[in-house]
Amino acid sequence: MNTQKTYDSKTIIFHWLSAAIILGLWVVGQTIDLFPKGTPRITARSFHITFGIILIILLTLRIKWRLGGGIKLPQALPGVLGEVAVRTHQLLYVLMASVVTLGVAAVWIRGDNIFNLFTIPAFDPGNQQLREDVVDIHGLFANTLLILAGLHALIAIWHHKVIKDDVLVRIWPKVSAYFKR
Ligand code: HEM
Ligand code: HEM
Repeated sequence: MNTQKTYDSKTIIFHWLSAAIILGLWVVGQTIDLFPKGTPRITARSFHITFGIILIILLTLRIKWRLGGGIKLPQALPGVLGEVAVRTHQLLYVLMASVVTLGVAAVWIRGDNIFNLFTIPAFDPGNQQLREDVVDIHGLFANTLLILAGLHALIAIWHHKVIKDDVLVRIWPKVSAYFKR
């Protein structure tokens, strides 16, 4: 039986670091077109892609950790609600993996100029429709991820404020614990 009450520190760091990067990527992704054409827009897009690649590495390590050593805690709620929570977490993982995969496809298909340092050639340069479609699908999945993650966060806050259980606390960073190590 699992007597552990909180997640291990790696699971906690993976959770909050990916959440912060995803939020940042979404904000930059939504605002890239507001940057003036030329270097400012290239820089914004290059930052988006660079942090996207950092997220891919983080997500790979996180999934390996989740399937391996990461602590799994019992469902917070019994019955159907607990089952819904487990499925939601799985769906969040699937959406994160899909968004980053579609992001890589977007770079590959539309081609890119990274920080004015090097260029990635477009997959099919004349095919503007394909370029728009892949970015649109990437954006659609990104929005879906953000909406589901937002609902997930609201439910976590509801657990904390209304039910007053330890669901949020068990994934909350234990800052003092890191200093002891
Ligand atoms: C969870 C992670 C990510 C989120 C939330 C995210 C979000 C977004 C959003 C909202 C857009 C705008 C879509 C639109 O205009 O319809 C976008 C565009 C884009 N994303 Fe991402 N993205 C993520 C990861 C990635 C990754 C890993 C890459 C590539 C390595 C990437 C590459 C791109 C590219 C090339 C564009 C098109 C930029 C443009 O229109 O100029 N994204 N992203
Ligand atoms: C982009 C944002 C987020 C994503 C993609 C995300 C994704 C996830 C995933 C996949 C899990 C399952 C962890 C595992 O067992 O490996 C999880 C757990 C959890 N998340 Fe998030 N999360 C996000 C933001 C948030 C925020 C903002 C909050 C709180 C305000 C939050 C609260 C929680 C809690 C309390 C758990 C543990 C649930 C339990 O033990 O039953 N998450 N999150």
